[in-house]
Amino acid sequence: MTADFISYKKACQIFDSNLDKSKLLELEASGATAPLKKFKSGALFKKGWEMKDLPSIGREFGFLPSFESPMSIAVFTTKGGVLKTTLTYNVARMAALHGLRTVVVGLDMQGDVTNTLGHEDHEGDGSELTEELMRKINETQGLYDVFMGNALVEETLYSTELPNLFYIPETPELASLAESIGQINRREYWLTEKIINPLKEKFDLVIMDCSPNWNKLTTNALVACDTLLSPLECKINNFRNFKVFKHFLGEFLDDMRLDFKTIFIPTKFSNQKKLSKEIAQWYLENVPGCTTGGIRESVVSEEAQAMRLSLIEHAPKSNAAIEMRSLLMEVFSQFEPKKSRVTPRMDMNKSTEFPKFN
Ligand SMILES: Nc1ncnc2c1ncn2[C@@H]1O[C@H](COP(=O)(O)OP(=O)(O)O)[C@@H](O)[C@H]1O
Ligand SMILES: [Mg+2]
Repeated sequence: MTADFISYKKACQIFDSNLDKSKLLELEASGATAPLKKFKSGALFKKGWEMKDLPSIGREFGFLPSFESPMSIAVFTTKGGVLKTTLTYNVARMAALHGLRTVVVGLDMQGDVTNTLGHEDHEGDGSELTEELMRKINETQGLYDVFMGNALVEETLYSTELPNLFYIPETPELASLAESIGQINRREYWLTEKIINPLKEKFDLVIMDCSPNWNKLTTNALVACDTLLSPLECKINNFRNFKVFKHFLGEFLDDMRLDFKTIFIPTKFSNQKKLSKEIAQWYLENVPGCTTGGIRESVVSEEAQAMRLSLIEHAPKSNAAIEMRSLLMEVFSQFEPKKSRVTPRMDMNKSTEFPKFN
């Protein structure tokens, strides 16, 4: 069986659908979906699709709601290891599998999402691994090249095995970019104006994977996003982080006169741990914008990423994948365009009287 052959049965599981055969035949005939093909699987022939065909199936038979205008999403909180990149990757891949033109913008020097997208994959026996990797990294055009005027945005877009999923990879120069943006006028708007707005003309969904650091790339991503996705780790030491994060986010929104929807997503909870369940419950009751679903701690989720798949593709029938499906439905139905804040918020406790000069 070839690695990217998806059987009819597996596609049904991924999209949680019975893929009604009569409707499928109708759509196949009209050219709206790719035709079913026969693949050899062991000694048997099975019917299915190549990976590249799946978005045309997902568009017709998937479970995600669509949205009207292009949407930019930032994934951010000031903590590492809380599933920001995992969430970015799962949202992006499932969006693409549902036929949405999707682009991931990597904003973390650690390069995790770039790596998961397979950018630094190499062929050969591994003996020249370091050299090959460094060559690839040096050759990669990224956001810094656009900033320096050495590349156009479209020249930084890399393709994937899904024809409608692209990404702008993270390069080591993101460190210089974060510093350089800080020196220019309209320093919070560079990403919006030069990258995200142009991307929104070509893509339905732009998703930015942020680093946990509050740097200029992060503030640019916040300005550029329509909706923010923010993981809430279900661990006791995350309470402090959450409070501090909310405070800084609130101040930033006020200072920048910004208003966008923030969706908080509980992550890494464990149904076996009483404390973890209590924390998840507390978030649900006390955090406005907290989703009812979340991402549980699970090995299949880690495995999926190692195989460069979304959790739902890797283990569609697992509990973790069932929860991911309802979480994504919940999250996608809440995406909304950035609100415009016409008047700055006023502090009603402050005197609004004009000072008297004697
Ligand atoms: N459901 C899960 N439960 C536990 N660990 C996970 C899960 N999904 C992914 N992981 C692993 O957790 C680690 C941190 O996740 P990551 O998404 O990179 O966090 P962040 O981007 O917030 O730093 C990664 O090694 C990832 O493979
Ligand atoms: Mg990350």
